Amino acid sequence: MSKINKVPTKIEIKLNDNDFIVSKTDIKGKITYCNEIFMDIAAYSEKELLGSNHNIIRHPDMPKVAFKLAWDLISKGDEFFGFVKNMTKNGDFYWVFTNITADYIDGKIVGYTSVRRKPNSNAIKTIIPIYKKLVEIEQNGGMKESGSFLFKFLEEKGLSYDELILSLQGA
Ligand SMILES: Cc1cc2nc3c(=O)[nH]c(=O)nc-3n(C[C@H](O)[C@H](O)[C@H](O)COP(=O)(O)O)c2cc1C
Repeated sequence: MSKINKVPTKIEIKLNDNDFIVSKTDIKGKITYCNEIFMDIAAYSEKELLGSNHNIIRHPDMPKVAFKLAWDLISKGDEFFGFVKNMTKNGDFYWVFTNITADYIDGKIVGYTSVRRKPNSNAIKTIIPIYKKLVEIEQNGGMKESGSFLFKFLEEKGLSYDELILSLQGA
């Protein structure tokens, strides 16, 4: 069960309006909890998921810079919003609108919680070419370059990252 050797299919699994996919991790991103709907959609058993790194459902179409942004924010206690394309156990994909927040005990971050729901379909149409460009840049250069591209893109639109994401979702 290797995420590296898995071949992505073109089959999309769509979330229903009332699907809330929840998972929790430790501070390093190892899964400590996932709900039924997570297992149903990702097609992994609880046993396969618990203790695995959350990148077990990472899709190769996701730019690295999206996760860097997420980790930079959540590790300092800020919440992250984003559109994420995930991969199921057999290589199918599903898009989510995600929110990740830190969990605290005695004022110290002890892990993270993510809640995902059905993304706005128009938002995904906008996000696909942006992520494609970011992945391309990362393949030819690196994350520094894709970060600069994203920053410039937002600057031209006059939006912060959160403003772009939340306006696309209509949240
Ligand atoms: C609470 C939480 C939820 C996460 N959810 C996802 C997710 O749904 N899909 C995903 O690819 N990465 C998710 N991540 C990020 C992964 O930990 C990881 O950074 C990402 O998959 C990139 O992995 P890689 O750097 O090994 O390629 C999540 C992280 C946390 C802390």
